[in-house]
This record gives sequence, structure tokens and C-alpha cells, in this order.
Amino acid sequence: MNGKPPCGNDENRLLDQTIEGLVERARLTLKQPLAGFPHYADTTTGEWTTTEDGFWTGGFWPGVLWLSGHYSGDSSLWQAAEEWVERLEPRVDSDSVFRGFLFYFGCSVGADLAGSKKAETLALAAANSLCATFRPNIGLMPLGTKAEEAHTVGENETNIDSLSASLVLAWAAEKTGNDKFRDVAIRHALTNAEFCVREDGSVCQSASFDSQTGKLIKTYTHKGFSPNSTWGRAQAWAMMSYAYLSALYPENREIRDYAERVCRWWIENVPDDGVAYWDFDAPQETGTPKDTSATSIACYALLTLATVLDDQEVAQEYQGKARATVKTLCRDYVATIPGGAGTIPPLVLTRGCFDPMRGVAIEHELIWGDYFLLHCLGLLTGRLPTKRLG
Ligand code: GLY
Repeated sequence: MNGKPPCGNDENRLLDQTIEGLVERARLTLKQPLAGFPHYADTTTGEWTTTEDGFWTGGFWPGVLWLSGHYSGDSSLWQAAEEWVERLEPRVDSDSVFRGFLFYFGCSVGADLAGSKKAETLALAAANSLCATFRPNIGLMPLGTKAEEAHTVGENETNIDSLSASLVLAWAAEKTGNDKFRDVAIRHALTNAEFCVREDGSVCQSASFDSQTGKLIKTYTHKGFSPNSTWGRAQAWAMMSYAYLSALYPENREIRDYAERVCRWWIENVPDDGVAYWDFDAPQETGTPKDTSATSIACYALLTLATVLDDQEVAQEYQGKARATVKTLCRDYVATIPGGAGTIPPLVLTRGCFDPMRGVAIEHELIWGDYFLLHCLGLLTGRLPTKRLG
């Protein structure tokens, strides 16, 4: 078996055109009078609902701008990213573990791609601040009192989405050589795995624990269909985080085992077209929402994990699955929106599903869905480096 997945000219064109259209969408967004950070958008008008302080999603907007600038060579997109990154500064110490999302995707990515000093400084400050919330007797960083979830937050709660904090800490460990960041990143990931990763490799989103002993009290969900169901993004965030940590720490077999288990479960349970329903256990009937954002995150994870797997056949399988799914997203789930200024029509990733239990943004463009699709396209087209793709 050779190392290259099949990749015809039509497919290359589809991927390239989607990148160009998504970059055009970023340009169009920059022209809108944004009241805050883009969060989700109507996929017919392209109009964004924004958040004033960045919520947990605001870092993906500069993330999209860093990627778009990198792909297009348009330095004005990086300048815009710098400006948006500055607006994240007040969030460095906010009492939400989800600031990992803000500062990894908004800042660490910008420091790496564009050499932004501002982004680097903020990502390191957030890593220090997050590290200080680590509770050694429990082995994790709790959600915090201001975690952006509608219920059950605070010092005795955790969820798998919080693994974004491990990304910014692991990144900071590489940057500074400070092993404390690495140790906390790994322990946080492993404790959450004990709480949330089920025996079969499926993931439960959330857990309460005893604040003295660290013993698990109950598992539940913040956003899924039911306490025992597998919410699509719970599975996807776990895949992303264990895959990312596996790539950084290939010698850590425990992390790698979790990465392989959660990725394997996704591959075996996702619908045939590769695009997940919003929750794997939600009744599947006509109109059950899909979640293209969970799907894009999962593809990023499969592409990342494939670079470190020992078994080349499995690595090929993961790459092939991610490639086919990204192609499906580009072909069937990406749509044009009005308002482009040039010859390239702006494109959006449709059918992201934010929070159906509360009826919010069920079939929308989601800023993190855009980010992960753009990232996957960068990996698949060689615009971003990987070890075994290309
Ligand atoms: N809390 C992160 C998410 O909704 O995916």
C-alpha cells in the first residue's frame, strides 16, 4: 500500500475551491459591522450572531483569520487576526476552563503560523492562569464558576470539552520547556478519560466528582440528548484532544490508547456518509439535525492521529476516512452566500448544530466548524504540514 490516498484532479479542485470560498467568507465577515466575536450565522443571509466577550467560541474567529492569511498570503487577514486577538486579553483569567478554546485556537495557532508575539504572550498567560486552577488531589482543572454552559458548573464539575485546556498547556510546555505544563496537560486529559471515556470508546460529556477524594459521583451531559447518550461533539472533542496529545507525546501509550479507542468508535458508528448526527443516540428520523462541526473536528483528529500510528494500514484507513468525509462536506454541506465582492463566491459550512436541547442554532454556520474544515483542508492540500500526508 503506498502512502498516498487517491487524489484525482477534480478532488484537488474541489478542496482548493472550498479553501478559496471559505477565505472569501472570512473577508466578507470582516466587512460586516460586527458587534462582537462571530459565533453562529444564518446560512442563507450570512448574518452572524456575535458574542461580546468571546464566549468559548471567540478564539476560532482569529483562528480562521490566521489560517486564511496563511493560505492566501493576504497579510491584511493576519493584521485583522492580531486586532481580534487583543480583544481576547480580558479573558486570560476568566474562571472558565473553556478559555483553553479561546487561547489555543485564537492565539497558539497565530503564534505558530504567523509568529505573532501578542498571540504568544496571551497564550502563555492563559496557560499559566489555567495551570493555577489544577487540583492535584483530583487530577484536573475543573469547569470553573463562569464556564459557558447553562447548568452545573463550578469546582466539582468537569467535562470532556475542557480538554481544550490541555492543548494550550501542552503547547506552552513546548514553547517554554516547562514540564509542569506538560504534566498538568496529561493528567487533566487522563483524569477526564477515566470519568468520561466509556469501555467501548464512546464518550460521555460531563462528570461530577467529590472535591475531597476526587471520586466520581455521576456522569451526565451538558448539551447531549441524554445522560447516557453520545453527543457528537463530546466524541469529537475527545478525539481531537487525545489525537493532539498523541502527536506531541508519542511515547505516552495511555494517551495513545484513548486516542485510538475514541477514534475507532467514531469510525464504527458514524453514518455511511461520514457526517454525524448531532447526538449518536438521538432518534434518527427525517429532519434529525446533523452536526458538521463535530464532523470537521473528528476529521482533524483522524488526520492528526494518523501521523503517529505505528500500524500503517490503520493510519491509511484514518486518513482515507477523513479525506472522504471532508470531500463530502465540501460537496454536499458547503453553500454560497450572497455578498462577495470579487470573482470567488463566499462559501459557508452549513448544518452545524450548536445546542438543540435549547433550540439555539440547530442548522447554522458555526465559527468552529469553519475553523476545523479550513484546518483539515490545509492538511489535505499540503498547505499545513503533516508527517505522512501529501
Ligand atoms: N462546550 C463546547 C461545545 O459546545 O462544543
